[in-house]
Amino acid sequence: MNLLIMGPAGSGKGTMSEKIKQKYQLAHISTGDMLREAVKKQTSLGLEALNYMNAGKLVPDTLINSMVDERIKQDDTKVGFLMDGFPRTLVQAEAFDEILHTNNKNIDCVINLVVDFEVLADRITGRRLCKNCGSIYHIKNKPSKVEGVCDMCGNNLVQRSDDTVEQLEIRLQEHKKNTEPVLEYYRKQGLVVDIQAGKPVDEIFKDIERAIKQI
Ligand code: AP5
Repeated sequence: MNLLIMGPAGSGKGTMSEKIKQKYQLAHISTGDMLREAVKKQTSLGLEALNYMNAGKLVPDTLINSMVDERIKQDDTKVGFLMDGFPRTLVQAEAFDEILHTNNKNIDCVINLVVDFEVLADRITGRRLCKNCGSIYHIKNKPSKVEGVCDMCGNNLVQRSDDTVEQLEIRLQEHKKNTEPVLEYYRKQGLVVDIQAGKPVDEIFKDIERAIKQI
């Protein structure tokens, strides 16, 4: 089974991906995580991507497409994948069709998380991440047991540099301009399931499980 999870910044793609990948044993491919890893390792891709990410802008399609092309060929995707945060432009969606065709794969379902702006702003400004294992927390909704320390590995929690209300507004503009047309592209193919995602995590996950059962 091959899934895409889409939705604006803070809609819960990373949070839901953790649960989906555990239950269905899928390879989780997050272009945001891959880019942050490249930034951390200071690779040429990371150095090029950094300014775009810090500005809340999308990283150029050519960089993203070749990163995904390389990743999708890895063995763990044979059991199925969960693509998180890609494609975000029509150019990426068309390139992804080619990549899938070449690798003899297809998309079974596009999960679209729908959330209001006020909820997104609260989630983004309160998010904390473990810089070691990537676990996601929220200062109110999902606090760590010890403030600033990851429950899973004991490392420090940090705030992402693009997690401000100002950057969120830019990221949402990018989503409206570039990514909503991608949703329409998949909607026309009958692949999109809209999930109301402004409620508690377990309720959202139940809705996602129901959608997956229909595939
Ligand atoms: P990316 O990392 O993909 O960021 P994003 O799309 O902005 O999404 P987020 O990671 O901010 O949010 P999320 O939906 O995963 O929410 P989360 O689960 O963490 O991309 C970052 C940047 O990389 C982009 O801006 C761009 O520059 C670049 N990039 C990436 N992919 C690209 C591409 N394809 N093309 C070009 N550029 C690309 O949840 C948020 C918070 O809310 C957490 O604290 C969580 O605990 C909390 N929360 C989640 N769900 C709930 C709930 N139901 N109830 C209460 N709290 C909740």
